[in-house]
Amino acid sequence: FNIKNMKVLIAEMVDKKVVEKIKAQCNVDEKYKLSHEELLKIIPEYNAIIIRSETQVNRSFLDAAVNLKIVGRAGSGLDNIDIDYATKKGVIVANTPESNIVSAAEQTMTLLLATSRNTVWANNTIKSGKWDRKKFIGSELYQKTLGIIGLGRIGGLISERAKGFGMNLIAYDPYISDSRFEKYGVEKKNSIEELVKESDFITIHTPRTEETIDIISDKEIELMKDGVRLVNVARGGLYNEDALYRGMKSGKIASVGIDVWMTEPQETHPLYEFNTMIGTPHLGASTREAQFRVGDEVANEVLAGLKGEIVKNA
Ligand code: MLT
Repeated sequence: FNIKNMKVLIAEMVDKKVVEKIKAQCNVDEKYKLSHEELLKIIPEYNAIIIRSETQVNRSFLDAAVNLKIVGRAGSGLDNIDIDYATKKGVIVANTPESNIVSAAEQTMTLLLATSRNTVWANNTIKSGKWDRKKFIGSELYQKTLGIIGLGRIGGLISERAKGFGMNLIAYDPYISDSRFEKYGVEKKNSIEELVKESDFITIHTPRTEETIDIISDKEIELMKDGVRLVNVARGGLYNEDALYRGMKSGKIASVGIDVWMTEPQETHPLYEFNTMIGTPHLGASTREAQFRVGDEVANEVLAGLKGEIVKNA
């Protein structure tokens, strides 16, 4: 099947080798940072688009995309894509749910450790010419209870890594079997309330859906232990950001590590005022290895879709 005349738009950055791979078979344009309106203007010419989490594949996009056959999502979250409407329009959506999970899990461990040890705050202090050791007494992960919300692919990897640090593990996930809890040696909790009450550290690994937005808010924070530490490398808004702010301000929460935001990009935010908050700009999947793997997988999916072959993860 000749796809030489097909046009692929790469709208968010993927690995260079991947771009070359697609270019070897069809026409490729790389156009980054387009506004939604700019995208609507040009999308009619394209047969495929490759995106990450910023591009909104919503109704207006799909209505304009009259020649589109496939959306390749280089990553796993699909909250920026209207899957039902895409299906109605006959557009295939394929993601890469396995390819960046290790990087997401490692970013989670990074934030768990760095928030516990004041790493960024101490780094900023030493670089501003001050040597202060008293201020930065941290806490160990060892023998603390880590509450994992969502024991899917990433949650499972977290449990394996946290076990290496000697943490006690509990998790809440109403969608998986008891055998998975057993497999990972994680104690099952039947409600969020139970989980938050018992956790010293909390991390979340769920998609963003109506059910998971604000899953942690004032009510849940109230139930937590004093000095609890929270990390979110999944999606912004799963922990209500205003509630987090209040929890930090009152001292109930000792630290937060946040990689993902309700609105992205997020150039200013009330939470940025806290030295005990470490914020990163959605870097969970931003490693060379993950970017190569997601890019390569999405390239194979897009090429298969254009050729009319079976598409993995569609
Ligand atoms: C994902 O959903 O896979 C991650 O958030 C990574 C990304 O969007 O690039």
